[in-house]
This record gives sequence, structure tokens and C-alpha cells, in this order.
Amino acid sequence: RNCILIGVPVQDGAGRLGCDMGPSAYRTAGLAGALQELGFAVVDRGNVAPAPPSGPQAHANPALKKLAEIVAWTALLSDVAFAAGGEGLPIFLGGDHSLAAGTVSGMSRRAAEEGRDLFVLWLDAHPDFHTPDTTKSGNLHGVPMAYATGRPGFAGVFPPLAVAVKPENVCMLGLRSVDPAERAALAEAGVLVHDMRAIDEHGIAPLLGAFLDQVAASGGLLHVSLDVDFLDPAVAPGVGTTVPGGATFREAHLVMEMLHDSGLVRSLDLVELNPFLDERGRTALLMVDLAASLMGRRVLDRPTRSF
Ligand code: ARG
Ligand code: MN
Ligand code: MN
Ligand code: MN
Repeated sequence: RNCILIGVPVQDGAGRLGCDMGPSAYRTAGLAGALQELGFAVVDRGNVAPAPPSGPQAHANPALKKLAEIVAWTALLSDVAFAAGGEGLPIFLGGDHSLAAGTVSGMSRRAAEEGRDLFVLWLDAHPDFHTPDTTKSGNLHGVPMAYATGRPGFAGVFPPLAVAVKPENVCMLGLRSVDPAERAALAEAGVLVHDMRAIDEHGIAPLLGAFLDQVAASGGLLHVSLDVDFLDPAVAPGVGTTVPGGATFREAHLVMEMLHDSGLVRSLDLVELNPFLDERGRTALLMVDLAASLMGRRVLDRPTRSF
């Protein structure tokens, strides 16, 4: 019952400024108190930051932005996640989604240390499955899952990957903006992807339930990466990459409640919150509410695994 908050004020991976204020917004919105109310011992480690890189890093793709900076964050966060994952349940307060290159790779090494596989639930409008060669925007928050699953194109560019996540251990839920190169790479890698159409056709509970059954059966650890833009912009406006037609307030809470009931979650990213674009903190408050549901807040008692 040990929960470790780690602020990650990275914004160099996103196309616009403001994500560096994310960690403060989560603290202001009362994350630590909400977790303490649920009975957790909460340690807030404050914010981490890498030493600034000595100069820009060259790459054949001229579109790439802030490569040296994101490489430095990735190396740092991979070590931070590996260590914190052995001490309790880390919650990484972003910061843009480039932070997941570090947190997922670090948690994958943590799982291997325990002789287990890491599974990743990726809650996002986007798969973030570009490589440094295929990204057109050059925003490196668009690459972390390709890195963590060991796609080609990162060798000699990003830090060497100790333990790649198996693509078949990744479930992406909520996708509705996928670039052509990502679409081809996802199919080739064999990632389990559920777009909004799948959610509309089947409902979110059976899709998530099947994945959780798979994680439980394999005895793996589960990392959850929650991008604000998984949610519909009508309920979560505080993000730079809004895409219409996202998860509802109720769908998102159901996902969090099922995750809690599964007992499988070992680590969590809360990413892409941009407080500069928020409306009186409502997106920060909703993200805190969702984190609390994932950690056990519920309306009524009920038997576990009701799905
Ligand atoms: N695929 C687009 C790009 O590469 C959008 C990525 C959005 N990613 C995110 N973490 N918000 O620029
Ligand atoms: Mn994302
Ligand atoms: Mn996204
Ligand atoms: Mn809730």
C-alpha cells in the first residue's frame, strides 16, 4: 500500500508548451490526499529532471525536435522507473507522453528482474508508434511505444533498450488518430489495438476484460499509460492534441474500476495534461478522480471481477 508520486515536467516531446506545469496541477488538484484517503502511504518525491544535454543530436530526419533532450529524459526515467517499481506503485505525473519511453522501458526491466513479463495498457487517441525516421511532425511524444517494443530505427539514437516489451503484451484502447506509417507498423508488430469503433461496437468492458484475463493468466505485471486525449475533449479540454469522439466520463471510470478490481496494476503514467489549456482545473481534477478510481475508490461494494 505504498504509492510513489514522481513529477516529470517534460514538455519537449509535445508540439506546444505547457505540459511542464502538469505535475503542479496534479498536486493542486489533490492527488496525494485522494490516495491517502484510500489508505495508501503516499510519498511525493517531487520532480525529476535530467542534466541538460551538451548540444543538439544529429539525425537524418530534419523534422525531429529536441532529440537530445528526450534522449536524456528517457535514460533518466528508465532508471527512475526501474528503481521505484521495486519500492512501491509509482505514479508518473507528466509531462508529455515522451516520458513513457523511459517509464515503460524501466518497468519492463523491473518485470524481467522478477522473472515476469510486462504488459502495457495504452489509453490514448494515438498509438504513439512512430520511429524517429517515420514521424512527420517531429514531436517525440509520438514515438514511445515503438521504442519500448523494440521497433527498428532507435538503435544508436535512443538509449539501448534492456528488455523490450512484447508487442502482443500491449493493448491500445481508444485510438482514433493513427498515421499511415503507424498503422502499418502496428499491424506488422502484432499489437492488440481497439479503436473507438471497436468500443462502440462491443462496449469497452469486454475488450478490457479479455486483456486483463490474458495478463492474469500469464502472471505478468501491468503498466497503465493514460493520455488525457483518451478522453473526449468535452470532458477533458486541457490537452494539446484534442481529437473528437473520445472516451466518455463513464467509460473512463469503468476502465479504472475494472483495473482496480483486477489487482494487476504496478505502475501508472498520467500524461499530456496541459494546464495552460485547461478550464479552471477541470481536466486535472478529472484525471485525479480517475487515478483514485484506479486505486480503489468505488461507489458500492461488490464482488471482485464482476465483468
Ligand atoms: N501521430 C501524431 C504525431 O506524430 C500525434 C501524436 C500525438 N501524441 C501524443 N502523445 N499526444 O505528431
Ligand atoms: Mn499519447
Ligand atoms: Mn494522444
Ligand atoms: Mn472516480
